[in-house]
Amino acid sequence: MGDQPKITEAFSSGSDGISKAAALLRAGEVVAFPTETVYGLGGDATDGNAVAKIFEAKDRPTFNPLIVHVASVDKAEALIELPPKGRTMAQMLWPGPVTLVGRLRPGKGISELVRAGLPTLAVRVPDHPVAQALLRAVGRPLAAPSANPSGRISPTTAQHVHDLMAGRIAGVLDGGAAAVGLESTIIGFEDLEPVVLRPGGVTSEDFASVLGTPPKPRTKSGINSPGQLNSHYAPEATVQLNVTESPSLGFGEIEGQVSLSPEGDLTEAAANLFGMLRLLDEALEDGEILTVAPIPEEGLGQAINDRLRRAAAPRDTP
Ligand code: TXA
Ligand code: MG
Repeated sequence: MGDQPKITEAFSSGSDGISKAAALLRAGEVVAFPTETVYGLGGDATDGNAVAKIFEAKDRPTFNPLIVHVASVDKAEALIELPPKGRTMAQMLWPGPVTLVGRLRPGKGISELVRAGLPTLAVRVPDHPVAQALLRAVGRPLAAPSANPSGRISPTTAQHVHDLMAGRIAGVLDGGAAAVGLESTIIGFEDLEPVVLRPGGVTSEDFASVLGTPPKPRTKSGINSPGQLNSHYAPEATVQLNVTESPSLGFGEIEGQVSLSPEGDLTEAAANLFGMLRLLDEALEDGEILTVAPIPEEGLGQAINDRLRRAAAPRDTP
């Protein structure tokens, strides 16, 4: 939780507003910005703390993976690997209201929290001049879920964002009303074939005109419903929670082999969570138990505990 009071400023879409928003984003703050679908709650996708602040502002009890926004098709393809039909969709439909999920290329510095530990990354090139100008000014990929608190309707104007998020984020960049007003269509790939993970701004007919055939309905579960992912990104090791005696993963006063946050800062803990789980999982010998210090059930602690409980759940339960 940030100790300093958060002010919400509204920026115009002129170059001055874009520079101010870009400076805040580069400093690790969360700023809402317009896209053609809905307003997004932007944060530097390479900065785990900034991403943790997005979840904090949304008051989400779970870590869903977020969509990463970049300015061009080239930048998107530099981040993720796409199968041939994915590349065709990227060329024909970007910039636009479609998100493609591909395997993240190594060494891109994308925070694990953005992906909620998944090996894949959802990427989108927005078709909005203000979003484009902002992405170019920041020079980094921006993670951005819709700019509403969890359970509320996605905002399509800066005023909506202000009403929903005032006091929770550093600012809002005003780019007028969102033209599409509906979230992007999310496309994943199964055996190289596109499947619709979430219907949205691009329709089956649009896809058919690009690919010849509409994308298939999805068949596999798991990766398609990240909120329900259980064992998918669970560690291999058996996980035991609320261990106060020298746990593998410490927090606050309880030291561990590594600590989510020695200061007991939940934002820092969220940023470290997936990376540290992975690190410990790799370091532990077969049969060793990955033990975790208690995490307070408040603010981001709720989402952290949700993830830890999934990691600790028996693997054969759904
Ligand atoms: O139009 C939009 O898509 C807006 C604007 C701001 O771009 N963004 C948006 O983000 O709707 P959000 O966080 O509300 O929805 C993102 C959804 C997640 O809930 C998840 O279902 C899916 O994207 N997602 C993200 N990464 C994924 C991945 N690696 N695999 C499968 N689904 C993923
Ligand atoms: Mg949303």
